[in-house]
Amino acid sequence: MKKPSFRAVLVVGGMVALLLVASSPWIVAAYWRVRSDNPIRRGMVRAGELGCFSCHGELGRAGIPIPGSEEGVPEWSGSVWMMYVKSDEDIRGYIMDGSLEDASGHGHDEDNGSHTHDADAITMPAYGDVIDRRDLEDLVATFKVLSGMVAPARGTPAREGFDLAREWQCFSCHGPGGSGGLPNRGSFTGFVPGWYGADFDDLVRDRDEFDSWIRDGAIPRLADHPIAKFFLRRQLLQMPAYRELTAGQLDSLWAYAQWLKETDGGHTGEIASW
Ligand code: HEC
Ligand code: HEC
Repeated sequence: MKKPSFRAVLVVGGMVALLLVASSPWIVAAYWRVRSDNPIRRGMVRAGELGCFSCHGELGRAGIPIPGSEEGVPEWSGSVWMMYVKSDEDIRGYIMDGSLEDASGHGHDEDNGSHTHDADAITMPAYGDVIDRRDLEDLVATFKVLSGMVAPARGTPAREGFDLAREWQCFSCHGPGGSGGLPNRGSFTGFVPGWYGADFDDLVRDRDEFDSWIRDGAIPRLADHPIAKFFLRRQLLQMPAYRELTAGQLDSLWAYAQWLKETDGGHTGEIASW
């Protein structure tokens, strides 16, 4: 039998690869999911799986009431975290042990114990034996972003961008702190892109494209591209056009995106002061 030429192998191989991609959009989706993964995306998934939001409320925004106690489960946001944790180590303590009982000097008992409860009808589980090191670090990162424990310093353009994003609720599509990864059925990757990482770099090549996405909800590079066009039309969630945002506000949003890049989505940023 004659050996197939290198060229023929390439052609057939290419066709097989194309067929695979065409018939299994999940291959593309899985590739992008891995490529643009980040600690906050992973931590969000873990927090859901481990029941954190069942007690602390959706996105940690509202703890459930505790029967027999005036205090409910603490929410993560709205500065409530300040009464409980000061450092990454404190957050790790809660997650691993369900409390900071062993830690001295700080923790939830220092101010007259007002938020301890006698009934103990609902206590935080100790996750030490359930999760591995990476889960722990992802959960810590996610807590820090959701709680607002880390955010751009007040009075900076990045902070203005962050405040704008909260005001317009951009995070409801783009994930906590612009971490991305929330489902978007029918889109090329299967999820809404983040504001940092591989998916962002792919969709935003320069400042012009950034502005164009926000102001027009699209960029010419993709809007005119035959394949991209197909996916952009088909996806369920579309980027809205925020035409009323001023040039200054776009500067702030850009500064916030830079801050996210520098702090790996915020979680390596400085802890907000008391
Ligand atoms: C069964 C309910 C429950 C679940 C599930 C739960 N917690 Fe908690 N959590 C609590 C309670 C109650 C406290 C308050 C503890 C105290 O007063 O010592 C708390 C406190 C905390 C704190 C201290 C700071 C604050 O503002 O809340 C952190 C951090 C925390 N939990 C993270 C998590 C994470 C992460 C998960 C999931 C891996 C989780 N919790 C799951 C009930 C729960
Ligand atoms: C209804 C959901 C939704 C909301 C709300 C939303 N976006 Fe988007 N955004 C998207 C989707 C989906 C894309 C992906 C672009 C596409 O595929 O058309 C996107 C893309 C982007 C991009 C470019 C790609 C990337 O990696 O992020 C930027 C920048 C962006 N949005 C910023 C914002 C800002 C700023 C706000 C708030 C003022 C906002 N978005 C609100 C859905 C949303």
